[in-house]
Amino acid sequence: MEIAEAIKKRRTFHKFSKTRVPKDVIERSILAANYAPCHRRTFPWRFTSLGMNKRELLCKLQLSLNFGERSIDEFNLKKIRDKFLNPSNLLVASQIFTDNQVQKLEDYAACACAIQNLSLSLVGDGVGYKWSTGKITADPKTYQIAEIDSSEEEIIGFIWIGYGTELSSITRPILKTIYRERN
Ligand SMILES: Cc1cc2nc3c(=O)[nH]c(=O)nc-3n(C[C@H](O)[C@H](O)[C@H](O)COP(=O)(O)O)c2cc1C
Repeated sequence: MEIAEAIKKRRTFHKFSKTRVPKDVIERSILAANYAPCHRRTFPWRFTSLGMNKRELLCKLQLSLNFGERSIDEFNLKKIRDKFLNPSNLLVASQIFTDNQVQKLEDYAACACAIQNLSLSLVGDGVGYKWSTGKITADPKTYQIAEIDSSEEEIIGFIWIGYGTELSSITRPILKTIYRERN
């Protein structure tokens, strides 16, 4: 696939079928991530793949974050279970921790480039994804489940991977609002 086509085709999916993505597609996307630019040569991106047992635990955590002790109706239970268990793969994206605020910002930029590379590689293989953040990605229990040490790495999102069935809808700003020339 042409790079320009992959860039335009890359979209966020909100729902996924249960079809599994071949392992080599995932491995290619991780390799692509690793080619991201990185000013300080810190290569701060890490990807932790979570299996179904861990995803069940995350699903339970999400249910408790959303509903606490309240009972959960069938509709919402299915919605959250589908969200956590349908996508073929779940990668926890994390960034190596640094005290240096300038480096932290540049490292986050590098991680975002890595995730974009990863997503474009998936698009090239006909696979969808979603980068999500929220209460759950910052929750200490998520660090425990993913076995990520919060003193060493910061979770910057979940990367859901699979064959998408429901796309986000978005209208882009027109080019004249984002591009200007100064002579
Ligand atoms: C840092 C980051 C965090 C995101 N977190 C979420 C999220 O929590 N939930 C969600 O639905 N989409 C999330 N997204 C996806 C964006 O909402 C999505 O990219 C945007 O709506 C544009 O849609 P598109 O990716 O199809 O172009 C996130 C994207 C980024 C870059």
